[in-house]
Amino acid sequence: MSTGNNFCGINFQPAIFNASGAWCASETELRDLGKSSAGAILIKSTTLEPRSGNDKPRFFTNEFGSLNSMGLPNLGPQKYKEILPTLRQYKKPIIASIAGMSPDHFVPISQHYLDAGVDALEVNLSCPNLVGKPQIAFDFEKSRNILQDVKNIAGKTPVGVKLPPYPDPIFNIQMAHIIRELKIDFVTVINSVPHCAFIDSEKEEFVIKNKFGGLGGKYVKPVALGQVRRFYELLEGKVPIIGCGGIETGKDIVEHFLAGASTVQVGTQLMKEGPQVFARLEKEFSEELEKKNCTAKDLVGRAKPREKQLGEMLDY
Ligand code: SIN
Repeated sequence: MSTGNNFCGINFQPAIFNASGAWCASETELRDLGKSSAGAILIKSTTLEPRSGNDKPRFFTNEFGSLNSMGLPNLGPQKYKEILPTLRQYKKPIIASIAGMSPDHFVPISQHYLDAGVDALEVNLSCPNLVGKPQIAFDFEKSRNILQDVKNIAGKTPVGVKLPPYPDPIFNIQMAHIIRELKIDFVTVINSVPHCAFIDSEKEEFVIKNKFGGLGGKYVKPVALGQVRRFYELLEGKVPIIGCGGIETGKDIVEHFLAGASTVQVGTQLMKEGPQVFARLEKEFSEELEKKNCTAKDLVGRAKPREKQLGEMLDY
């Protein structure tokens, strides 16, 4: 049963790849993704100038997930533009994540990647780790202007947007209006859950230098599924959704697809397990599809509301 999917003219085989930020900043990491079973290579969110990111320690994991305050460490668009042609040997779609430190940076960064012939742009409006800089995706006018500017130069190259988990559906509705109006090609949800903290009670200290960071992994799967479904419904299944958040097993991928995802990204589990995670996930996803006797595509948005069962004891 096919674990792949095709949308925006791009074939994801399998429909599983890395989240921007996870194992995709250095040339070696990008090559690792190329050699792996990932269905695409997504390059680390890129700022106009290279950045070393926030002070370390800035990444923490435990059995339930991860906390990061990376602060967009990346090599900058010139360097990625040099690397990109060498990644073509892996014959996978290559997507660039764009993260301007100021609204007028999004176009020049995107232009570098368009010149390099990237297959799609994912505009990151949701980095939670830039101290003193709010997540752009909560400022709808600014978001609209940035997306419009990138769309204007992108031509036929698909432009998607990576969003934070919105705490109230009114925000999803506002963003869905923009996505529809500008004909944004795909939506990636979710970025990590912002301003979370872990404390080591013995040492009496925060586990990362910046205290606050974005939460990922198992902790956030229900949040991610909620956001995938919200956008799937608001966009009437017409704009592909990339589900991201809490994927550890093939069953988690099935849940994302059932909620409305057309492909998924893996972040925390990739960092924990390394790029061999993709071969395992593809196998597990394939086994789940065999059991259901359907393809990945068949599953998209198929989850229905639960009906009350006959004889159900609790009647809340
Ligand atoms: C980071 O580099 O801080 C993570 C990027 C993101 O969450 O958008």
